[in-house]
Amino acid sequence: MNVKISHTAQAQDFLEEASGLKNDAGNPRAKALIYRILRDTVNIIEDLQVTPEEFWKAVNYLNVLGARQEAGLLAAGLGLEHYLDLLLDAADEEAGKTGGTPRTIEGPLYVAGAPLSNFEARLDDGTDPAVPLFMKGRVTNVDGEPLAGAIVDVWQANTAGTYSYFDPSQSEFNLRRRIVTDAEGNYRFRSIVPSGYGCPPDGPTQQLLDELGRHGQRPAHIHFFISAPDHRHLTTQINLDGDKYLHDDFAYATRDELIAHISFSEDQDKAKAYGVEGRFAEIDFDFTLQASPEPSEQQRRERVRALED
Ligand SMILES: [Fe+2]
Repeated sequence: MNVKISHTAQAQDFLEEASGLKNDAGNPRAKALIYRILRDTVNIIEDLQVTPEEFWKAVNYLNVLGARQEAGLLAAGLGLEHYLDLLLDAADEEAGKTGGTPRTIEGPLYVAGAPLSNFEARLDDGTDPAVPLFMKGRVTNVDGEPLAGAIVDVWQANTAGTYSYFDPSQSEFNLRRRIVTDAEGNYRFRSIVPSGYGCPPDGPTQQLLDELGRHGQRPAHIHFFISAPDHRHLTTQINLDGDKYLHDDFAYATRDELIAHISFSEDQDKAKAYGVEGRFAEIDFDFTLQASPEPSEQQRRERVRALED
């Protein structure tokens, strides 16, 4: 037997009351959103015959998710963060805002205020016995003209697949830097080849993915915010070619235009010029920004981020 009451006037009246729609205080936007969420929730409960046990299990899940600070991870894992990108892409397409390096998800691990330097930087603190990575490229507009003074804000994981700040064993701002491009739009940095990583295996995100028969792994990648005066802010990542999860990313961040070729070399003359010994890796990757006169488009979207005002 599938009992339903959500269609009754009494139930609808109750949901309006619970959403604050019957009072003049509060925030109309919050009321509209909560009313819709409540209506959709009761429809789910009735249509899928959610039992009280399942309901309270879900409530407890939200508590665990929050306690473990994994809500952002779950948003990525369920593809919702990627879905927002697809929606923004469609809006851009409709508005004729095309061209440039594609956007992809930010993820939950950005930390604001990384050290700023001109033209070049070293990202790693030298403690990770990893393969040195030398990455460079240009920031240009869609006509290929260089953008001087653009900021390449880069962050990446270490070889354990963890990020400084969230992994307190790493030094402050390790593998996080902001680099200002030179007159030709060039940036370059020395870093380490990052590892891919997965959701914490004992966490609620992985627990839910297990229920869905999905893994929680990401390919090796490097995150970027690219910004320049009079241009649209870009949130993106490069995903390293050759990684077994390149096209099987649990967060759906890989896009064809964002696959970066990484070349490993043992050329010791070159290594010496770089100031390293043994094997090293190189990536060349250019970023292209769309022009925009809109100040709101020139900044990253508002979101709660670590160390951001
Ligand atoms: Fe990441």
